Amino acid sequence: MRKPIIAGNWKMNKTIDEGLAFIDDIKARVKDTDVEVMLFVPYTLLKTMKDYTKGSNIIIGSQNVYFEDQGAFTGEISPLMLKDVGIKHTLVGHSERRQYFNETDEIVNKKILKAIEHEIDVIVCVGEKLEEREAHREAEVVRTQIAGAFKNVEADVLNRIVVAYEPIWAIGTGKTASSKDANDMIAFIRSEIEKLYNEDISEEMRILYGGSVNPSNIEDLMNQDDIDGGLVGGASLKADQFVDLVNF
Ligand code: PGA
Repeated sequence: MRKPIIAGNWKMNKTIDEGLAFIDDIKARVKDTDVEVMLFVPYTLLKTMKDYTKGSNIIIGSQNVYFEDQGAFTGEISPLMLKDVGIKHTLVGHSERRQYFNETDEIVNKKILKAIEHEIDVIVCVGEKLEEREAHREAEVVRTQIAGAFKNVEADVLNRIVVAYEPIWAIGTGKTASSKDANDMIAFIRSEIEKLYNEDISEEMRILYGGSVNPSNIEDLMNQDDIDGGLVGGASLKADQFVDLVNF
């Protein structure tokens, strides 16, 4: 059985005080769940929130990581720095990183390999643009992203990697993919993983949907066979909505 995940991606939002108040607000309300609860927060909140959630079931992760251990890379964050503040989870290849910061499949792959080398678990994001979907190229685009992301990734570390399918046209737009379309694409990703590795691995891999997930569509999404959870932006900023998502 694949354990479901509800992961919040706070993007460039919230101060330390706001982050801690959020934890106070949700902690007791998300503790009795079989869902893995994760929050990917800004760098400035990582240590304080990690310390504050100690002993709880809330996992704090980074939204990004660089693919070198140290050096002259102004403004980047290394996996060793994440580990230094106790962080063991990161997002990689979010579409905003790809779109605004020119992250290619090759960079995404290097980041995954580096994070895994330092035993940091990864949620890697893939998904097509609106014009690619309109041109019926979504499968080809996602196939290329998956093949690129998993290049040289050994089978024995795949239990540390989760995939999030996030069609770009659904992110922050209020337009969710229909639960059937989301499930179809996630089943397709699973079949690509099977081709790259084997059936057991593809059946065990957790694959999330992201893009305007909210309390009113989560149940329908989670009822789909292949969808193992949600990566949530906007709705994860509001404590009540995040609690409702976890307890879907
Ligand atoms: P959204 O963002 O839920 O606000 O659409 C999702 C994401 O970018 O991960």
